[in-house]
Amino acid sequence: MAHQSELIASDIGAYLKAHEHKSLLRFITCGSVDDGKSTLIGRLLYESKMIFDDQLAALEADSKKVGTRGGELDFALLVDGLAAEREQGITIDVAYRFFSTDKRKFIVADTPGHEQYTRNMITGASTADLAVILIDARKGVLTQSRRHSFLVSLVGIRRIVLAVNKMDLVSYSRDAFEAIVADYRKFAQRIGLTDITAIPLSAVYGDNIIEHGANMPWYRGPTLMQHLENVPVGDEVATQPFRLPVQWVNRPNQDFRGFAGQVAGGTVKKGDRIRVLPSGRESTVARIVTADGDLERAVAGQSVTLTLASEIDVSRGDVLAASDAPPQVASQFEATIVWMHDEPMLQGRAYLMKAGTRTVTATITPVKHKINVNTLEQLPAERLELNDIGVCEVELDRPIPFESYADNHTLGGFILIDRLSNSTVGAGVINFALRRSQNVHWQALDVDKQVRARQKGQRACVLWLTGLSGAGKSTIANRIEKLLTAQGRHTYLLDGDNVRHGLNKDLGFTAQDRVENIRRVAEVSKLMVDAGLIVLVSFISPFRSERRMARALFGAGEFLEVFVDTPLAEAERRDVKGLYKKARRGELKNFTGIDSPYEAPESPEIRIDTTSMSADQAAEHIVHQLLDLKIIPSL
Ligand code: ADX
Repeated sequence: MAHQSELIASDIGAYLKAHEHKSLLRFITCGSVDDGKSTLIGRLLYESKMIFDDQLAALEADSKKVGTRGGELDFALLVDGLAAEREQGITIDVAYRFFSTDKRKFIVADTPGHEQYTRNMITGASTADLAVILIDARKGVLTQSRRHSFLVSLVGIRRIVLAVNKMDLVSYSRDAFEAIVADYRKFAQRIGLTDITAIPLSAVYGDNIIEHGANMPWYRGPTLMQHLENVPVGDEVATQPFRLPVQWVNRPNQDFRGFAGQVAGGTVKKGDRIRVLPSGRESTVARIVTADGDLERAVAGQSVTLTLASEIDVSRGDVLAASDAPPQVASQFEATIVWMHDEPMLQGRAYLMKAGTRTVTATITPVKHKINVNTLEQLPAERLELNDIGVCEVELDRPIPFESYADNHTLGGFILIDRLSNSTVGAGVINFALRRSQNVHWQALDVDKQVRARQKGQRACVLWLTGLSGAGKSTIANRIEKLLTAQGRHTYLLDGDNVRHGLNKDLGFTAQDRVENIRRVAEVSKLMVDAGLIVLVSFISPFRSERRMARALFGAGEFLEVFVDTPLAEAERRDVKGLYKKARRGELKNFTGIDSPYEAPESPEIRIDTTSMSADQAAEHIVHQLLDLKIIPSL
């Protein structure tokens, strides 16, 4: 590699040492290829001599062959060429490039600029200290520049370089530059970005990249490289109160029990008093262990294993924190969420939420508003679509220790994961906890589910019948209930059509409404199981995700999924209510099986094939299963 320092050849030891003690600036570049981003990054790499000799030779050859600069070095080819190397097998398309100068080391996250690549941008920005927002001097501040700035501020970057590129194409006009800067500042201020350094550039000709050059004598500020080399890199997290989210519990033998993780804020010393969240138990730090021996203290960014003076219960996902300044614990928040998936976010659907080292179940309910990133207007919305940014209320299945993102990125940032496909569908930041969750406690009652069920001589459970419309769910459920009542059992049948006449009469058949339909009926059946009943639920319940959510509300053995399996062709042939005909004629929208999906159960407890079994046989079969499972006593 052709390198910037002679030291590497003469004294490698001294070179590495100098390198080790240089500060590191992580930054992200936002803009599209058209703005000259590749050329800019290419030039930074080239000028800092961080290009392999063979890459340089290839660049020279390519520039002559396909370059756009009349045979001179076309830096865009360099970056695009590097990008092509990584194209395979990477889902999140962020290229991290490393370069260094005598003063500093740099990692630049290069992300594709198109709107749909929000996910890449957030990934790249989440670890950056600074963002370079690239503007084409001819076009000025575009929607995309505003969108990128919004996302950058959302992930907590405070330092902006407004790189106004292609100044050569506007005759190096000072007025043009200043108009763009004034326009940008107006917008930036409204999203809380105030630390802005604006630099007029020509990436192609190198003006104000490393050297000032002669074309813009009116500009007296730093060149881009000067600024990147000198801008302070924040170690603000080191001065915050101590936080360590536990990554894993290290217990190699009886005598050692350590809690490993990366310090996410502040400093910890031997002898410090710490509190474990969410349990609230306290202890004292006995040792700070690392692979290179024990430490007296550890600061934010270091990965360590702590041992405690007393035996207290700590598990993965817990947070160890300064006992005099612990984070809050809550289960309901207001959060700002960026949606990154083709399928919209549905209110009421449960997603997995990964916050710090902890994974919990989160339900979004409701979306308060979407944000128009151009005008910052708040728009009413019921759901978030790809690339939407919205402010939502989020409800978790259990309380977690957290901080607002502004205070701590690790404890305040999260991603949302689809429970079935396991793909990341959204990212968000916690704004604050909702008070109502803190003031509502769980009331312990003396008469419980077991007592109520025993009194009825049965075990409480829910039989969840799912299947297409017209599959025979309600007919079978009705027969089961008759058989059970005749045996003196206590039951209740929740039927989709009937519940939609009362509790759920405000709901239709969009995906969103079905999610809410199932959420409510799952909660109602939970109450009825708590009352000691055998509950029959007869709802199409077409989505796996909501059936899984319903299952998760119940204890082991309480939830029996019954797949009433009737092929679509058969249900349509029977068409008891004439709804399939209507749907086929286009008079009924979102009809399950026609233009709305039915996701068949993968492993139901009971499967009923209605083409080979009558409703009576099915009902008897199911009652037998209840006997076998000792939910009902034999007669
Ligand atoms: S679910 O999908 O949300 O679980 P639910 O079981 O409550 O549906 O209601 C289904 C019943 O509503 C059907 O049996 C049918 O009688 C009626 N219905 C009316 N419109 C539709 C539709 N678009 N899709 C499915 N069922 C519909």
